[in-house]
Formats: sequence, C-alpha cells, structure tokens
Amino acid sequence: MRILSGIQPSGRLHIGNYFGAMRQHLQLQAEHEGYYFIADYHALTSNPQPKMLREYILAVAMDYLALGLDCNKTVFWRQSDVPLVQELAWLLSCITPMGLLQRCVSFKDKVAQGISANHGLFAYPVLQAADILAFQSNLVPVGADQKQHIEVTRDIAIRFNNEFGEIFTIPQDYILESVAVVPGIDGRKMSKSYDNTIEIFEPAGSVKKKVMKIVTDSTAVEQPKNPEKCNVFALLKLVADKDELADWEKRYRRGGTGYGEVKKRLAELLTAYFEPYYQKRIELEKDKNYVMDVLRQGAKKAEAVARQTVNKAKQAVGLD
Ligand code: ADP
Ligand code: TRP
Repeated sequence: MRILSGIQPSGRLHIGNYFGAMRQHLQLQAEHEGYYFIADYHALTSNPQPKMLREYILAVAMDYLALGLDCNKTVFWRQSDVPLVQELAWLLSCITPMGLLQRCVSFKDKVAQGISANHGLFAYPVLQAADILAFQSNLVPVGADQKQHIEVTRDIAIRFNNEFGEIFTIPQDYILESVAVVPGIDGRKMSKSYDNTIEIFEPAGSVKKKVMKIVTDSTAVEQPKNPEKCNVFALLKLVADKDELADWEKRYRRGGTGYGEVKKRLAELLTAYFEPYYQKRIELEKDKNYVMDVLRQGAKKAEAVARQTVNKAKQAVGLD
C-alpha cells in the first residue's frame, strides 16, 4: 500500500502532531511505501514571516529524521520542490464545486472568527487533494481534524474519475481513535496556531513548566476525580505503561491525589519518551546540508511519481 501524509511547517512540531500523526507515519513506513512531505505551500495560507517559514521547514525535516524516518526507504520531500502538484490542483479546482469548499470547517472557522480568509485558505483542500491524488495514495494517516479534507479529496477524485475515466486511486483516511485529538495545555486541541503546545524536542525544564500549567478543574486534593475528563490524564495515557496508568486511574477515583503530583510524573514521562531521539536531533542540527540534501533527493523521486499521474490527468481533460 502507498501511505502519504503531510505536515505544515507552521511552527515547532508538538506531541499532538507526534501521537496524532507522525508516530503512525513512522510505524507504517516499515511495511508500506511511505510518502511524507513538508506542506510549505499550505503553510503560506497563514501568511508566515519568510524567516520563520525557512526555519520551521528545516526543523520539521530534522524532527522527522531524528524520530526515525528512513530516507532510504521512504520518500521525504518539501512540497514546493514538486510544483507539479499545483498544476494538478488547477485541474481539480475546475471540477470542484464552490459549495464543497464552502462547507469546509477550517475555512468556516476563520470566517466565523472574523478573520478575512485569503483565497489560498479557501482553496486549501483542493491543493491537499492534489497532494494525495498525484501519488495514487491508498491510505492517509492524519489526526481527526483532517477527516473532512480526506472526504473532500475522495469526493473530488470520484467526480474526476466519473467525468474523465479511472485516473485516480480513491484514498482512505487512517485515524486512530485513541489519539485522534490530543489536548493542549489549555484543554483545546493542541495546535501550533493556539500557542498551547508541548514541543517534541523541548528542554526538560520547559516541558515541566508547561505541564504544570495544564488546565484542570478545581476538585480538592482529597476528593475523587474523573480521569476521563482530565487533560493531564489524557496526556498520561500517551506515555505511561498499562500498569502505571491503571494505578493513576485508581488514585484519581479514590481521591487523595492532587493534580500537581500527576503533572510532575507526566513531565518526567514525556521527557523520557523523547530522550532517545535527542542526540540524533542535535547531530542533524549541525549538518543542515545533509538535511537539505535528503529533501532534494526525495523531491526528485516524488516528482517522477507525480509526473506520471499528472500527465495522465492532463491527457484525460484534453491537454495533451
Ligand atoms: P497544527 O494544528 O499544530 O498546525 P497540522 O495541521 O500541521 O498541526 O497537523 C499535522 C498533523 O498532525 C495532521 O495529521 C493533524 O491531524 C495532526 N494533529 C495536529 N494536532 C493534533 C492533535 N492535537 N491531536 C491529534 N492529531 C493532531
Ligand atoms: N492539511 C494538513 C494539516 O494541516 C497538511 C496536509 C497538506 C496534508 N497536504 C496533505 C495531510 C496531504 C495529509 C495529506 O495537517
């Protein structure tokens, strides 16, 4: 199977990105053909500072490589190094009804917040469809927030195939329910755009500070607590082993355990979880030329694969 996914370089990657998406990307690469890319064209829709965009692109690349992306097996590139997807996005745009995009929540949210959304943001799902369809992907591992975008992709692919012949593979999303929405320190979905993240490669002291700030209810120490409604427990589930988790659950329900105590342990476990990858991350930081070279080589492979699909699609619509 061909697995494809992308992550925007719109900030430093956080544990929501990791547990919600990257961990699945890294696991799936062992048994399948992995195609993973840094969605820098998509990141432009939020108008980043050029300096920050450059920095985040490299940081995303280094994070993936440090965490175990195998660039000899998996194709890993920067979206804008394969501008061919833009060409496909245009073909898809011309068969995408306005209503389909108007229903997309990411766009509706911005408008509801009073932000004057740009055209890139409106057309965002079409470019995402082009990313997925250009590579004839079967499975797209993402967090729950992306479900609608994969549905839009399927809808566009089916329309195109009905109109012009069987050109595109119809992709499926791959969303693990247990990690579909990792909460941030304020209790909302953890997201680079909410300033509520715990980064994957954040120094231990800073992880601890953030964990201590996680929003909880005001149940007193001696009172029983509901683990299922607790943001700290939700994060603990990601990093504690089964026995330890069961123990914390008992302590929550019994009462007598304060949130401060759980938070301390969570901070330790989070730091320990990512510790094995720290050294590699530091080494990559010293060899940015290597990192850029990996992305360039990946783009060449990606371009060759996308070229075949885009040529077929162009022929099908009469642009041969
Ligand atoms: P962000 O919202 O931080 O900008 P992206 O939109 O770049 O993150 O998402 C990259 C990947 O990580 C996507 O597959 C997305 O669904 C997943 N993801 C992001 N935040 C979370 C979260 N809090 N919980 C689960 N998955 C997430
Ligand atoms: N929209 C995705 C996100 O914000 C990023 C993305 C762009 C993507 N193109 C993609 C994800 C193709 C999966 C497949 O997380």
